[in-house]
Amino acid sequence: MTAPVSPHLILVTGAAGYVGSHCLVELLTSGYDVVALDNCINAVEGHLPDTLPESLQRVQSITGRSLLAYYKADLNNATELEDIFSKHRFSAVVHFASLKAVGESCKIPLEYYRNNVGGTMTLLDTMRAHSVRRLIFSSSATVYGTPEFLPITEEHHTGRNCTNPYGRTKYFIEEILKDLCASETGWSITSLRYFNPVGAHPSGIIGEDCKVPNNLMPYITQVAVGRQPFLKVLGKDFKTKDGTGVRDYIHIMDLAAGHVITLDKILQEGWTGWNVYNLGAGTGYSVLEMISTFEEATGVPIPYKICDRRCGDVDELWADISKASSALNWKPTRSLADMCAHSWNWQSKNPMGYRSAAEGDGSANGVRQSPVKVPDAAVASGVKALNGKSKSFDREVNNNDEDVTVF
Ligand code: UFG
Repeated sequence: MTAPVSPHLILVTGAAGYVGSHCLVELLTSGYDVVALDNCINAVEGHLPDTLPESLQRVQSITGRSLLAYYKADLNNATELEDIFSKHRFSAVVHFASLKAVGESCKIPLEYYRNNVGGTMTLLDTMRAHSVRRLIFSSSATVYGTPEFLPITEEHHTGRNCTNPYGRTKYFIEEILKDLCASETGWSITSLRYFNPVGAHPSGIIGEDCKVPNNLMPYITQVAVGRQPFLKVLGKDFKTKDGTGVRDYIHIMDLAAGHVITLDKILQEGWTGWNVYNLGAGTGYSVLEMISTFEEATGVPIPYKICDRRCGDVDELWADISKASSALNWKPTRSLADMCAHSWNWQSKNPMGYRSAAEGDGSANGVRQSPVKVPDAAVASGVKALNGKSKSFDREVNNNDEDVTVF
């Protein structure tokens, strides 16, 4: 039986993940009703039987609102999806569900194509069958590959220089979505190309939970909390201001706000067809600048070693966000120092992420016995601003390590 129509009922796929959970906070506080879906392959399930995944329980406690429903379901399971769409009338879908580890995608590409591309196909088929034609797609700056000009605008070509299967899944999905919009009227699909989302909800109740971090910020916070002995700075021979990679870091709550504004536009202004926007901060920071900003914002030292480059990393990448600023009337508001302090607030309050300390992360490194204190002022005040002076980068760890090159 079909449920009554709610004007603002949104299906969120991949809801329990890092980006999904932070967007849920914004959606719920903005008054949307939400049905959450996640297959939990990368999320921590509730500690008690028949409870929500840990991140979703915490989203409810932050917002004081309940999800309308939660389904542990896989997008590739057409029967399960059909069942969910028969039970609810959705106004729109926000689609985050995706495998996203670049290195892993090179080892198991078929899993990436099946999960990301195949799952999106099943979702689109089901949406079409139920006349749900509004979608926000979680895309990535990785579709641009090696940039030919900076800052990157949405007009930069995509796909041609994608360096890994993960990036190609996002590119292929975008092409499918464009074809769909061109083939049938009535679809409204917006692709949001994320640059480097970091940070956490300022409460520190939810954040990015990784067993083994692949990305810079979670690696820094795991070093800070004692789960990793030092940060590996992956290359100092890039053509950048200090030789380390430059990226466009955006606070996760600014990214989340971008989704809600887009949804408002789609639903209230009746946007149709294919649209695409960059969501970044519009500024590039190097790895060494990230380290020094983290140290200044939190007071916690980050030992690091200069190591070899990772395969496929580009020199620098940052976004032109003028299209999103004008069309969505959206602007990021949080500083790099906010991103660092909020990441640290989350990690220091949750050293093992959503796992309990007893469960651990399976690594040999234990968490530091005496947790590092977060300066309250740094969190409460939205963090002291950078004082303009650049730190000297003289704190490299000196002991040799077999798989790193120490300069
Ligand atoms: N880096 C380190 N040490 C680490 C991890 C990263 O020095 O342990 C460096 C990288 O070399 C790079 C910068 O930190 O210069 C940022 O690396 P991330 O792994 O945090 O992010 P990427 O820019 O490589 O990738 C991110 C997402 C991808 C997405 C891409 C889009 O992880 O999913 O942005 O540009 F596709």
